[in-house]
Order: sequence, then C-alpha cells, then structure tokens
Amino acid sequence: MDKKLAITVFSFPPDKGNVGTAAYLNVFSSIYSVLKDLKKDGYNVEGLPETPEELIEEVIHDKEAQFNSPNLNVVYRMNVREYQALTPYANMLEENWGKPPGHLNSDGENLLVYGKQYGNIFIGVQPTFGYEGDPMRLLFSKSASPHHGFAAYYTFVEKIFKADAVLHFGTHGSLEFMPGKQVGMSDACFPDSLIGNIPNIYYYAANNPSEATVAKRRSYANTISYLTPPAENAGLYKGLKQLSELIASYQSLKDTGRGNQIVSSIISTAKQCNLDKDVDLPDEGEELPANERDLVVGKVYGKLMEIESRLLPCGLHVIGEPPTAVEAVATLVNIAALDRPEENIFSLPGILAATVGRTIEDVYRGSDKGILADVELLKQITEASRGAVGAFVEKTTNSKGQVVDVKSKLSSILGFGLSEPWVEYLSQTKFIRADRDKLRTLFGFLGECLKLIVADNELGALKTALEGSYVEPGPGGDPIRNPKVLPTGKNIHALDPQSIPTAAAMKSAKIVVERLLERQKADNGGKYPETIALVLWGTDNIKTYGESLAQVMWMLGVEPVTDGLGRVNRVEPVSIEELGRPRIDVVVNCSGVFRDLFINQMNLLDRAVKMVAELDEPIEMNYVRKHAQEQAEELGVSVREAATRIFSNASGSYSSNVNLAVENASWTDEKQLQDMYLSRKSFAFDSDAPGVGMLEKRKTFELALATADATFQNLDSSEISLTDVSHYFDSDPTKLVQGLRKDGRAPSSYIADTTTANAQVRTLSETVRLDARTKLLNPRWYEGMMKSGYEGVREIEKRLTNTVGWSATSGQVDNWVYEEANTTFIEDEEMRKRLMDTNPNSFRKLLQTFLEANGRGYWETSEDNLERLRELYSEVEDKIEGIDR
Ligand code: BEZ
Ligand code: MG
Repeated sequence: MDKKLAITVFSFPPDKGNVGTAAYLNVFSSIYSVLKDLKKDGYNVEGLPETPEELIEEVIHDKEAQFNSPNLNVVYRMNVREYQALTPYANMLEENWGKPPGHLNSDGENLLVYGKQYGNIFIGVQPTFGYEGDPMRLLFSKSASPHHGFAAYYTFVEKIFKADAVLHFGTHGSLEFMPGKQVGMSDACFPDSLIGNIPNIYYYAANNPSEATVAKRRSYANTISYLTPPAENAGLYKGLKQLSELIASYQSLKDTGRGNQIVSSIISTAKQCNLDKDVDLPDEGEELPANERDLVVGKVYGKLMEIESRLLPCGLHVIGEPPTAVEAVATLVNIAALDRPEENIFSLPGILAATVGRTIEDVYRGSDKGILADVELLKQITEASRGAVGAFVEKTTNSKGQVVDVKSKLSSILGFGLSEPWVEYLSQTKFIRADRDKLRTLFGFLGECLKLIVADNELGALKTALEGSYVEPGPGGDPIRNPKVLPTGKNIHALDPQSIPTAAAMKSAKIVVERLLERQKADNGGKYPETIALVLWGTDNIKTYGESLAQVMWMLGVEPVTDGLGRVNRVEPVSIEELGRPRIDVVVNCSGVFRDLFINQMNLLDRAVKMVAELDEPIEMNYVRKHAQEQAEELGVSVREAATRIFSNASGSYSSNVNLAVENASWTDEKQLQDMYLSRKSFAFDSDAPGVGMLEKRKTFELALATADATFQNLDSSEISLTDVSHYFDSDPTKLVQGLRKDGRAPSSYIADTTTANAQVRTLSETVRLDARTKLLNPRWYEGMMKSGYEGVREIEKRLTNTVGWSATSGQVDNWVYEEANTTFIEDEEMRKRLMDTNPNSFRKLLQTFLEANGRGYWETSEDNLERLRELYSEVEDKIEGIDR
C-alpha cells in the first residue's frame, strides 16, 4: 500500500502545551490507535514509536532546537522561492502579512512545516491564525487572510509530501474559518485555495453539526463523527457531601427535637460551601418553625441534587474505543428521562411519578421551589431510574464490564416478562407498581440506543473514506435528545433551515421566555425588561429545531407561519391581549456560524422586528416601537430603519475575537475587549436591502444595546457548558451593555438550560457557580481529566482561562471560585507536582492565569498564595528550559 495520509492536528491557543487540541478528544492516543489500525491494513507507518506518549514527544519536541525554543519538530524547511513557485496565491497574502517568509512559522529565511513523518504518514501541526496575540489585528472588523506559514503548510501537504488525503483530526482547526464566501467557494476564497486538490477527511465531534457544516461547505470536508466522552453524574464531594449527609440525618431526626440543631449545622456547612449566593440562608442558631426549617433544608437539598445529577463528559474520548457498560448508564438514564411522544415512549421519571399519583412536571415544579418532600421524591425517582437502567445494562455485559451482544441479550430479556431486570429492580422500591407495558416499550428503545452507543464505526468509516467510498451520513446533535446521532462514524448533516422553528420548538420556547420574564420581574420590582440582548448560535438551534429562534419570536410576540410545504417563511403578530404583556425589544447577535447556516431566519427575524415596530400600539405595551421611535429621532432615520436588531459579523468573518484575546492573555483592559466586540459584531442584516449582505451599523447597535435590561443565551447541549469552550464568553455582552447604558447599571444576565427534562432559567452567576462546582472543582471531573495525561492538564487549565473570560466580560465570577481552584491545584503539593510533571507548558499557563486573575482584579487572595504562584512559575520556567535545551 503506497497511499499517503497527512494527519493534521491543531494548536489552540498557540502554545506547546496545546498541540493536539480538539473538543473532547484525546488526540494523540486516537492518532495512535488509528495508525495501528492502518498498519494492519498495510499502510507504511515506518518508525512509529511504541506508545502514544513517545509520539507526542517526537512531534512537539524538537531535539535540535536552540535553548528555550518554542518550536515544534520541523519536518520541512521551504525556501521562499519554492514557496512562491508552488503557492499561486502567495502574493495575495502580502497585503496583510508582507513579503514571505514573514515571522510566523519561519526561521527568517525559510517557511517551517512542523510535524513528523512516519513512512507514508505525516503528522503535522496546522499553523494558527497568527493574529491571536495581536490586539490590533483582533480589533479589525473583518478578517484578513491566512499568513504565509499557513499557506506553506498546505503547499507542503499537497505538493511536496503529495498526500492522497488529509485527515483533520478533531473539532476544529482554522482553515475553514478563513475569509471567503460563506458557501459556493471560488478561487478567490482562502479555504478553497488552501485545501487545493487534497481530499479532506475530518474527524468531527458528533455534537457539533453547525461548525461541521461550515467545514463541509467551505473546505469540502467529508466529516466522520466521533462520540463525546461518556457522561457521568457530577456527584458530590467534600463539603457538599457532608451537607447531603446532614440533610439525610435531618430527615430521619427532624421530629425528635433535634431539628433546629441539625438545621443550624446545615446552614453553617452550606455557607462554608458558598451556597449562600444560591439559596437564601437564615442565620445559624436562629430558631425556625418546622415548616420554615423544611423549606430551608429543601432548598439546599434541591441545589445539591442539581449539582449531583449534572452530566459530565468525563475524560477524553479515544477514537474507536466504545464506552463500557457502566459508562453508558448515565447517558441511558438521561435518554430515558425525556418523553418521546412521536414514538409513544413515556419517560422513566414520568412512569415512576405516576405510581405515587403525581405527574413528573408537578414534582419538578415542587422540587424547584424547595418543597422538601418533592425534592426527596425526585431524588428517589432519580435513584430508581439509575437503578433500573443499571440493572438492565448489567444483564448485557461480560465479566470485563464491556457491553456485548446486546441484540441477543435483549431478545432473551424481553422474552421473559417476569424476570425483566428493571422490574426486578423496581420491585425492591416504592415504585413497584410501575406500568409494565410502558416500561417494556421504553426499555426496548433503550436497548436499541445501547446497541448504537457501543456500535462504534469511527475507524471503519475512516477506512471507507480512505478507500474513496461512500461514508453514510447522519444527523449531528446531542445523542441524549436525538439517539439517531448514533452510532458515530457518520458524515454529519444539519437540517433543512427552512423547517425551523417547529411547532414543538415554539411550545418549549414559550415556557422558557415566560420563565425568563418571571425571573427578571421577580428580581426587579415586578418590571418587565424593555430589551433583552441575546445570542443565537447554530448548534443549539439545530439540536432543538429552532428553540432559540422561537424564543426571539415569542419575546416580540409573533408566531411563525408554515406554508403548504412545511417551510417557515412568514411571521404574524399575536395580539397584545393574547400575549398578556408588553412586546419585549431584542438585540440579537448571531454567531458567524448561525449567519452562514440560517440567513433566511435572520431575514425572518428582521422582518418580524420591523413589523412589530410599525404596529399601531401604545408604546408602553410595545417596547420595540418605543425604542425604534426614540432611535429614529436620534439617528434621523425612519422608524423602520431604526428597528434594526439582527446583527452578526461581517460576511466571511467569525467570532468577536474576545476569546482569542483572553486565551492569549493579549489584552490591555476590558475596554479593548468591548471594542473588539463592537467592531466585530455590529454588522446588521437588512431585509429591506436584499442581496446586500451584512452592513456595518455600529451606532444603531450601540443605541439598541444601551436599552438592554438583560442579557441572555441558551446552553447548547448537556455536554457543553459555560467554561468548557471559550465561545460562550466570546458572545457575552454583559459589561459592554453596562458601559453603554445611560444609568450605568449592570443588566441582569441569564442562561437557559433546556438540555434536561426539567428546563431551567438561571442567572449567569448561578450557572458559572454550577459549572465551577461540577467541573473545575470537582474531583470526579479533574481526576477524569488527569487520567488523559498531557491533554487532561490542558483541559483543567482551559477551564480556568475561560473562567477569567467570564470575569472579563461579565464580572459574574465569585472570588471563592478562584480561591478554591487555587486550593485544589496549587496549594495541594501532590497535585501541583502531578500537573507540572504531566504537562509543564499547560501548568505554566495555569500559574500565569491565576496571577492574571489577581492582576486584573478578579481574584483577591493572600500574599502567601501569590508568592507561591510566583515561585512555582519560575520553577516551571526552569524545568521547561531544561527540557528544551
Ligand atoms: C454556533 O453553532 O453558532 C457556534 C459554534 C461554535 C462557536 C460559536 C457559535
Ligand atoms: Mg468553534
């Protein structure tokens, strides 16, 4: 076999500790298992080392590098003449980057290609955008061009290494985000020039259909989906665990006269755990009547259960490694928690609640309010669900805990009604009378899902692609919401953009909007927000068939109208009487990805806003009209033109760049970040100017943002939350709005989470706390990461950097989050040693980020802590220099 493959990995942000970054993926272990497999098929992988660790060493460690060189292994030095001869578009890059070679991926004379070759396999490191550390370039409102080093990389792959295919390894790199058209590339579009004639295969996270679509459209990728790591429940630890034990003793002893004493301990422990910002806690020692005691305990308990049951993707996925049975349980439990009326499947919690004469919605509501009995009932339902699913899964596994031969097991289980494992399990619980038929239908479905979870085809699909054969397509999305995403190893597709929002999405959206408005009113003296500044992303709209899009419609008080072919291309206002509240004004900022995927829906929303602004209604019931009239006056334009609310980036440009600035610590002050946001995200869509594209309307954008009383965004899926990726804070305008408002008041900030059966609208600060407690500070999470070694340390560091991002854009991070992180990772000597030994570059970045959090005023701490951080910093510097020497 003489086929040549160029495996391409990424490095975000550009730093040695980050080589091989991809969402949820252990990249080097995955590459290693792919290569072992290809070797079996006859590929020449000569010189492949014995372990993935050695592979990492060989790629990122240049043995010949000079003292303290940041360079990776150089596989090829391309002189400028060769570069220019082989790269026909090289001169187009000069406007932005000057004459080649430039200073990126360059030794001053040659362009450098980083990577390592093993026989016919080249493992290369894709260069980065190149402007990450350059605040001036980050401020540009439009994107510029790739740099010479970037172009040289792909020239090498196509014309010197002569790859038969490139395999981009994991979500995601920057090639497909380079400037050019959104679809239908021409030779004047950089993604097209870069990829040239090389077949592009792309391992892509199954849960990211929006960006996968960009990769397909703009770089002709054949995506191959990979599974996100198996989810676990976050569990409880340290003080939170003690607290749950105290609550258990309260429940058994509350009527023995010890109630007040235990409640007092609960309150003080809850305060130690910093739960006082989440739950209104009375003073310890205060004598409370029994019902108030129950309520305090119920609220703390509810919070604990929320933390405990949060899903965590634990560790990192390795291509071709199916989850073990135990690992599949939490995912199945969550699949089982959703009603699927279209398939006549009832949720397990719903089936169990019915046995005690309740609906599950009613139990959720009671539990959310902190009614102790309902929190307890919900906990029992959750435990029984886990037990029943666990008993089922146990029957399908071998002695090593691997799921085996689900199909035959399943038919034998379903054949013998009486010994159905879930029935056996439930007979030991209070839910003994659960409906047998509904259970059987549900577990039949879960069995199908389990089969799909373990039926991994990630390696198989790669081989199919390498043979030039057809890789089966499948939807991308959240496997919990849509098990059809499974099995992975499919070419990811999105959906028909004209089909959203669906009626079901509209129904869910109304609930979330009303909850959001209720919450805002409750916190603001009963007043409705006049304007909500919100963010629209592609991914969550794909996964939910347009729930976020529908939310905007419902804020405005309009409904989508479907034509005879099921396409949504019109909206109609509902009357104010029917709406029962004022129409809320919006400032919508769409991600660049949303703009690419859903331009028709931007058109629809713009028409909706303009229509609402022109309705002849009293302005106290129509805030869109109220503000548009004021703004029309100020700008000297018509009301219709002033009613411009649908913004995004310039065409061919993505992100506010605030994330790049924060990740690279290359910003001077918050004002600079806010300027980036304004200059990058102030391009408006105008339905009255068809075909014109995105137009810069910064003044209108600022005026609209200045009226915002709240900011709002939806969480994308059960696997991704606020500090997992840098894109959430990249989208967040909270402090920006505060700066623009005439009264200088901070807007409220909310995050909706519709990823579980019990949808929630939380404040941003609650969500940040929940995230910190379940991830960064949670031993189950960080130990899971540590098991992935080098890449795990980077994941820990990334969470802290993203936390700093939230401090910078929103100011909604509590001091204790940094303090506890410092206690966990730095004060603990053994832990810091492990971090330093496993990935010194990421550990250095971790130290730097702590110091930065303090330096920028986001974390107040003792001089001792700071001194320790500084000392460790110089220690790790020495160590890194020693390695590079
Ligand atoms: C989107 O789906 O719109 C999106 C994806 C990644 C980052 C930002 C937005
Ligand atoms: Mg992305």
